[in-house]
Amino acid sequence: MVERRNKPSALATTPGLPPQATVTISHDNSRVTAELPTGETVVVLLHGATVLSWKDAAGDEKLWLSEGAKLDGTKAVRGGIPLVFPVFGAGSNGEATKSLPQHGFARNSRWEFLGKSTSEGDSSNVKLDFGLSSESLSDEYKKAWPYSFGLLYSVTLDRDSLKTNIVITNDGDEPFEFQTLLHTYFRVKDITKVSLDGFDSSPYVDQLEANATKKQSGSITFSSEYDSVYTPPGGPKQPIILKEDGNQRLRIVRDNLDDVVVWNPHIAKAAGLGDFEPKDGWKNMVCIEAGSVSGWQKLDKGDAFEGAQTIHL
Ligand code: BG6
Repeated sequence: MVERRNKPSALATTPGLPPQATVTISHDNSRVTAELPTGETVVVLLHGATVLSWKDAAGDEKLWLSEGAKLDGTKAVRGGIPLVFPVFGAGSNGEATKSLPQHGFARNSRWEFLGKSTSEGDSSNVKLDFGLSSESLSDEYKKAWPYSFGLLYSVTLDRDSLKTNIVITNDGDEPFEFQTLLHTYFRVKDITKVSLDGFDSSPYVDQLEANATKKQSGSITFSSEYDSVYTPPGGPKQPIILKEDGNQRLRIVRDNLDDVVVWNPHIAKAAGLGDFEPKDGWKNMVCIEAGSVSGWQKLDKGDAFEGAQTIHL
């Protein structure tokens, strides 16, 4: 055997080059996992491009995922970050939305993994890109929403934050209207000790009281079912602070997403959701959903909309 004296060494161990994030695709091609050299991880299911898990370097999970969530593509995922598009809820835009499923089809379609990128020489983050377009929709969804569109969804894992960014383009000749939402399920220790800041004086629509319009006073706290759509007057840059026992746990900053839905199903609603497990899991989650849902965004031919949230530890 010929002895190779100057064997090339692996790139990651080249002196001067810091170790890079690793990105792996599961054997069954159903999910993408990224891990930073410092140990932070994110897992994205191609069904819905749903972020299933986000852990810090200590392995502490930030998102809630139902133990009964269907991860085989037969249903939208109950937990993580499902992506709502092109309609929020049951839809109220007449003909354009009447055939769409609740919260639209994006969370219930298979997305394509487009690849990863890192800011050059920066080992402290990794961006995963996912795409969905009208061509790759099921026939049923194409029929229900016959517009030509493109969605580019980017998930950026940083040492102390997770950013989810959506770009929506109108690739056809017809204008269309849409709503979108990052339906984030946060894991908490005890919902009765959670408070949310950043909503004081905000108008909101209470979906549990026939869409009555109200005004928030002080922090949001939870003692029963909660389902409201807020439009904080400070705009997207006004951070939302999630506190547990009075201590700041997370800070959410939005970009171009004016509305925030706050949802906790409590006992009765959780009992009625077949994929919600364990049944008392409502104690350990709260949905804080950044989006554009109180009106309709209109995109003319060739136009694009971009919105994002960054969740800081
Ligand atoms: C929230 C809505 O965004 O999603 C709630 O405001 C709804 O009304 C909840 O119950 C869950 O919806 P789904 O379709 O995932 O059961």
